[in-house]
Amino acid sequence: MKVATCSAPTNIAVVKYWGKDDVALNTPLNASVSVTLHPEQLCTTTSVAGGYAAIQRTRLWLNGEEQTVNKRVAVVLREIQELAGRVHGSKEPPAPLHIVSTNSFPTAAGLASSAAGYACLVAAVAEFYGLTKEHEEFPGQLSTIARQGSGSACRSLDGGFVRWQKGERPDGHDSCAVQVADEKHWPGLCAVVCVVNDAAKDTSSTTGMQTTKATSPLLTYRAEHLVPERLQRMESAILARDFEAFGTLTMQESNQFHATCLDTTPPIFYLNDVSRQIIRLVHRYNAQAGRIQAAYTFDAGPNAVLFVEQEHVQELVALVLHCFPSSPEMAIKSSMALDRKAPQKLLARMEAPLDGGKAFKLPELPGSVKMMYVSRVGGGTRVLSESEALIDGVTGEPLPFHKEEAEGGCPSVKSCFWTRLLSASSLEPALRYAAVAIVAAAATRAVLLHK
Ligand code: DP6
Repeated sequence: MKVATCSAPTNIAVVKYWGKDDVALNTPLNASVSVTLHPEQLCTTTSVAGGYAAIQRTRLWLNGEEQTVNKRVAVVLREIQELAGRVHGSKEPPAPLHIVSTNSFPTAAGLASSAAGYACLVAAVAEFYGLTKEHEEFPGQLSTIARQGSGSACRSLDGGFVRWQKGERPDGHDSCAVQVADEKHWPGLCAVVCVVNDAAKDTSSTTGMQTTKATSPLLTYRAEHLVPERLQRMESAILARDFEAFGTLTMQESNQFHATCLDTTPPIFYLNDVSRQIIRLVHRYNAQAGRIQAAYTFDAGPNAVLFVEQEHVQELVALVLHCFPSSPEMAIKSSMALDRKAPQKLLARMEAPLDGGKAFKLPELPGSVKMMYVSRVGGGTRVLSESEALIDGVTGEPLPFHKEEAEGGCPSVKSCFWTRLLSASSLEPALRYAAVAIVAAAATRAVLLHK
């Protein structure tokens, strides 16, 4: 009887994967590069249990709902179980498992839930069978298994900045993930995730990219002639922590990916009016700063991920909140204390005519950004303790699912009380500091009384 539990982060591609070379192996038309986001805000947790009398067949639960074990999950399980059989020299057929998974963010909303989901499945099943990187039969083997679950998932096993190389071998063994730089490399890089629409997307990535491959000449040209050079420039920008080069390429990549979607017959529209207003806003923000200070990227949905360096994150968040104001209770999940009010000076700078050009009208679209996550670069998958398991260690059955608790963050990386108090989104800054002061005074008094 055993329960293994792991967490996995999401990642956001800055050189995009779109189009498959081999559908059965799920290898890509071109290599891609991504940034792993910190699990404090966005992550998946998965527990795997086996060896209990009550487990008669393999079953899977996601966010409290039982799911059918689909083909991709079955392939991931089979590949890891076969590897475990070879490593441990066992010929026994694998026992059925219970697999329980939760996301700390809305599933299938274009927030790379399949990336975190399959990376976490690989990590937790591997942990269940006692497999680590040392047991791999070729470099990156576990990432090639995650790739067969969902392409982008292979980039979520590692932290920092990760390349998924296209690979040349017919068996797909070299179509694996390679870390470009770890999570400590660029600590000042922040990612502001703006949830524009948290409903499930219209066209799934898998279907969308198949139609694009079948109909878009731009996609083939891009994969052959444009991506190889962009990939090199992107990796150099990351290694040099050159935000201007990184940001420029990130935006060009996002735009070219959405151009291939538009070049598809029938065209695929992932961006909406709010996404386009965010694009306009970021370009104006950079123009008034006279340099690339922020960059946007969009995947298969309208949600924006904005990259910005730490010194400008406050300004950018306040600007987005000014243009897309939500209720004062709108959740901002962040480990940094952020002031919601945009300074008057910044608004005036944004609207003033530039170089004799036209004045800029800041967008006003109340309620259109529903939620924000302010994140930074984070680490890869992690093994969690027994106390963080989603399965009852005595019965092997799923523990009750609590949506609010799951969306509150990932176990063991949940912000401490102080950070949560300081960043409590519904509190005005003055109120926040007053709350901290009151708690601090009460604590001091308690300590003094105790003496
Ligand atoms: C737009 O990894 O979801 O996010 O391999 O079919 O599961 P499948 O596709 P998926 O595609 C992600 C596409 C993207 C760009 C990217 O992450 O590189």
